[in-house]
Amino acid sequence: MQHRPRRNRKSAAIRSMVQETWVTTNDLILPLFLIEGKNKRSEVKSMPGISRLSSDLLLKEVESCMKLGLNTFCIFPSIDNKLKDKKASESFNKNGLYPSTIKLIKKNFPEAVIMTDVAMDPYSSDGHDGLVKDGKILNDETLDILAKMALVQAEAGADIIGPSDMMDGRVGAIRDALDENGFIDVSIMSYTAKYASAFYGPFRDALDSAPKFGDKKTYQMNPANVKEALIEAELDMSEGADFLMVKPALSYLDVIKQLKDNFPLPIAAYNVSGEYAMVKAAGAKGWIDEKRVRDEILLSIKRAGADIILTYFAKEFAQSKK
Ligand code: PBG
Repeated sequence: MQHRPRRNRKSAAIRSMVQETWVTTNDLILPLFLIEGKNKRSEVKSMPGISRLSSDLLLKEVESCMKLGLNTFCIFPSIDNKLKDKKASESFNKNGLYPSTIKLIKKNFPEAVIMTDVAMDPYSSDGHDGLVKDGKILNDETLDILAKMALVQAEAGADIIGPSDMMDGRVGAIRDALDENGFIDVSIMSYTAKYASAFYGPFRDALDSAPKFGDKKTYQMNPANVKEALIEAELDMSEGADFLMVKPALSYLDVIKQLKDNFPLPIAAYNVSGEYAMVKAAGAKGWIDEKRVRDEILLSIKRAGADIILTYFAKEFAQSKK
C-alpha cells in the first residue's frame, strides 16, 4: 500500500496537527431574547437552557459571556401584545424596550458587539415580516418601515443590523437610510438565504411571533432551491451587505458551501431554534451525547464554509473551552 491514511490519525497530537477546521468562541454569535420588566427571567419551554430576560438580567448575561470571550450578541425583543399593530409602530419608537436596551448594553460594555434584528414580525399584529394588505405581504411599502426600524437601532448604538425579513431590496433601502443619516460605520449582516423552514418553531414560541394567518412562503425561500440563494447573494452584495447569512444551518450546508465558493464576503450561518431544541430533547432522553453532538454540528457548519455561526449553544460552547 502506497497510502495509509490511518497514519495521520494515529495519535491525538497528529490528528490535531492535520485537523482542517476548528471552531473557536470568536466564531460565535449568541442570540438573546429580551422581555419587558425588572429582574425577570422566563424560560423558553421548547429551548431548554434559554430564557427571555429583562434588560437588567440581559446586561448581566452579556457580562458573563464576555468573561468567557464571547463578545457578539444578536438581540430579539418580545413585544407586549398590546403594543403590536399592523404597521409595527413600536419598532421605530426611539424610547421602546429594544433601543433602550441596546443603549444600556453599549453604555456598560462599549466593546460588546450588538447585532439587531430588522423585521416586522415581533411588532406586527399580523405576525408577518412585512406589511399585510388584503392577505398579501406588501414589499415596497415594507421597505420604509424596515429602514426606519434600522435607523432607530443604529441611533441606539447597534454595530450590525440584521435584516431577517426577506423583502426584495431591503439591504439597499437600509444602507441608504443609514448612510443618509451618517451611520456609515454601521454594518449589515443580511439574512441572504433565509428559508421558509419548520425549524423556527421554538423561536416563534419564544417571541409569540407566529404568523396570524398563512405562512411565510411568499417571502422566505423554498427549501428545495439553491440557485436562488446565489441570486439573493448577488443582490445583497451589490446593495452593500457586509456579511451574507444562510438560515437554517444544518439542513442547508450545501447552500453555505455555495455562498462561500462564490462570494468574497464573510459567510454566517444561523443554527436555529429547532436545531437546538432537537439536540437538547434527544440529549435529555439520553439518546445522544449532547455535548459531542453539539460540537460536531458546529464543526460541520464551519467545515461547510461558514466563518460565523449564530447559535444558542454559544455560551455553553464558550464555557466548555475555559
Ligand atoms: C423573524 C426571525 C425568525 C428567526 C429569526 N428572525 C423567525 C421567522 O422567520 O419566523 C428564527 C430564529 C430561530 O429559529 O432560531 N424575522
